[in-house]
Amino acid sequence: MSKIKNPRISEVPVDPMFIDRWSPRAFSTEPVPEESLRTLFEAARWAPSCFGEEPWLFLYATKQEDLDLFRTLLVDGNRTWADRAPVLAFAFARLTFKHNDKPNRWAEFDSGAAWMSLALQASRLGLCTHGMGGFHEDKIYAALNVSREKYKAMAGIAIGWRGDASQLPPELAEKESPNNRKPLAEVAVEGKFGG
Ligand SMILES: Cc1cc2nc3c(=O)[nH]c(=O)nc-3n(C[C@H](O)[C@H](O)[C@H](O)COP(=O)(O)O)c2cc1C
Repeated sequence: MSKIKNPRISEVPVDPMFIDRWSPRAFSTEPVPEESLRTLFEAARWAPSCFGEEPWLFLYATKQEDLDLFRTLLVDGNRTWADRAPVLAFAFARLTFKHNDKPNRWAEFDSGAAWMSLALQASRLGLCTHGMGGFHEDKIYAALNVSREKYKAMAGIAIGWRGDASQLPPELAEKESPNNRKPLAEVAVEGKFGG
């Protein structure tokens, strides 16, 4: 596998885990041990959430039959590379609180935190994750037996070991390296916005 140099430079020192995580598209087909996979979901489980609701739900596929189904839920553009990943998951957010059935307006925020914990834990284990908003929302609820009234499908997640970029179509191979970020001053503002 070709070594990829991480060109990211943080403006301010941060724990390296934040800039070491990135989303490759070239996956190896090597399976992910069940224990490692459980570690990823365990990390997600410890995310904070409003009222301790834990509104996230991850459905995942490692068996061929499940993978065949999960893959059909991705848009073709993502299938060109994500079909090689040995694990596919979908993250859902439960949109109502269990204790009173009222809308949980924080469910998506909290589910995003859980996904990030999963992604960082994966990176720590040498695994890669790649989130995907490109999936068929019209099919996913029926296909995965999830209530459309209660849950919102948030993203697909390809999980596995990094593979060689040469396996990718040329237009994706050339983008296969860690990308940059907006300047810190643009996203963290002291006091009122636009002042
Ligand atoms: C919710 C979400 C949806 C995304 N959807 C896609 C997608 O459909 N296809 C894709 O190739 N990448 C997708 N990405 C990957 C982003 O483009 C990527 O995370 C972003 O460019 C930052 O790069 P990094 O994750 O390598 O730091 C998605 C990421 C997230 C978090």
